[in-house]
Amino acid sequence: MPDQQNPAEGNASALPVSAAQIEHAAALLDAGGLVAFPTETVYGLGGDAESPDAVARIYSAKGRPANHPVIVHLAPNGDPNYWVDGVPSEAQRLIDAFWPGPLTLILKRAECINPAVSGGQDSVGLRCPSHPVAQALLEAFSALRGGHGGVAAPSANRFGHVSPTTAQHVREEFGNAIHVLDGGASDVGIESTILDLSRRFPALLRPGRITPQDIADVLGEAPRLPDGSDATAPRASGTLKAHYAPRTPLAVLPFSALEPLLAERQAGERVALVARASRADRWADTEGVHFIAAPEDPHAYARELYGLLRALDRANVSRILIEKLPDTIEWIAVNDRLGRAAAAFEAQE
Ligand code: TXA
Ligand code: MG
Repeated sequence: MPDQQNPAEGNASALPVSAAQIEHAAALLDAGGLVAFPTETVYGLGGDAESPDAVARIYSAKGRPANHPVIVHLAPNGDPNYWVDGVPSEAQRLIDAFWPGPLTLILKRAECINPAVSGGQDSVGLRCPSHPVAQALLEAFSALRGGHGGVAAPSANRFGHVSPTTAQHVREEFGNAIHVLDGGASDVGIESTILDLSRRFPALLRPGRITPQDIADVLGEAPRLPDGSDATAPRASGTLKAHYAPRTPLAVLPFSALEPLLAERQAGERVALVARASRADRWADTEGVHFIAAPEDPHAYARELYGLLRALDRANVSRILIEKLPDTIEWIAVNDRLGRAAAAFEAQE
């Protein structure tokens, strides 16, 4: 009876994967292997955070430069103190407010933690995901390590490409080479907010569902926003100018600038138009325009964004034109991802 629920495992029977699948995946991690698993943000490509070989395997599967740090994922009962050189009080307040959830904290790395996970930097990124399958996997792996296991996991995509929000997306990236736990579609849809607390001031390295305002409400101080001008900032691949890109050329422009481009398209050319329906639905039935009515709400937009970009890569269009969204705080994370996706093509124009 391998799937029989053990009361000590909590509500495991409600999970979309069996207890046996969790145990198998945890054993793979314990043996130095890789497992892709769902989180509430995007799917992660996990390996034992304390094994430089496993971390090297993650880099090589992704095709990612080895000097980029990865995030260490902890179970809800995991102890951040094992990984860091003291948890400062502002970090603890944020942990109490937002963990488990889509917030990664960069803190000073404990000396006993191998620098491979940090790309050689003296900090470490910690996050406790809220997805029940991620939590079950992290708990099972941690139990194999006497309660202190952590799973290093970047997004489960090839370097620079769109992050995966379903198990199918992970298979599109890696074929059958990577073992995937299928936990359904990720609810947040874009990567966690990253806040650096390892320097003299809180600095937002990557915007996400937890907003600068959410952070300010807890800390009583707004985080410094990323502006690319701080040469001492740690390297973070999600902070590279060009990232999160589909393969089809993509541009983000104000709606007023898109309409002339649509009108000028070549005979026989098919372009995708992604815009909120309230502004753009007059293009819905136009020949040669593949119109996608984007959600009006920033959370729903974020949830659908990466799946949409992947679908448009298969839609046989020559270009993806996306309506620029309002420059307001609730759109900061979506604007960040769209800006980086577009930046991948700007040099070629
Ligand atoms: O939502 C997420 O954070 C997802 C899921 C799987 O948890 N993970 C994710 O990982 O987005 P990744 O590797 O694709 O992006 C992590 C970002 C990178 O930009 C990395 O450079 C940065 O976090 N990062 C990790 N540790 C860091 C550190 N010690 N200092 C600075 N940046 C760090
Ligand atoms: Mg990534």
